[in-house]
Amino acid sequence: MHVASMLRSMLVSNAKRGRMSVNFNHTIVYAHDSRASATFLAEVLGLPAPTRWGPFQVVTTHNDTNIDFMDADGEITPQHYAFLVSESEFDGIFERVRERSLPYWADPAQDQAGEINHHDGGRGFYFEDPNGHFLEVITRPYGSGGWKP
Ligand SMILES: [Fe+2]
Repeated sequence: MHVASMLRSMLVSNAKRGRMSVNFNHTIVYAHDSRASATFLAEVLGLPAPTRWGPFQVVTTHNDTNIDFMDADGEITPQHYAFLVSESEFDGIFERVRERSLPYWADPAQDQAGEINHHDGGRGFYFEDPNGHFLEVITRPYGSGGWKP
């Protein structure tokens, strides 16, 4: 192999690796009781208990993304957080949501109470955390099965 073509293939593979180097790492989620909210999320999703780091109660998902719960006073603007889970994890999460008698919906408008959806050939539903953050679990990424909103 010529040196030039070796260099070219090295550059190409570096570029390919480079494309894989941007990953969502963490976000801050405000809560009136960061410990309670982080524990709620970890328990319902079946993730390890939160760890404390500085002012944050940190829940880490299986793709190593940190959700950093932080105490906040006053009104909290609800945000939306969605989790892609396996079919068996969905079963456990759905069971825990029902055990806790939490309301859940098939749709983000919260019209279809007590139902789940089957978008993209998977399963999904929405529920609220203790501060009103709107949580969603899905077993297929949006659009992966051809679903269009
Ligand atoms: Fe969503």
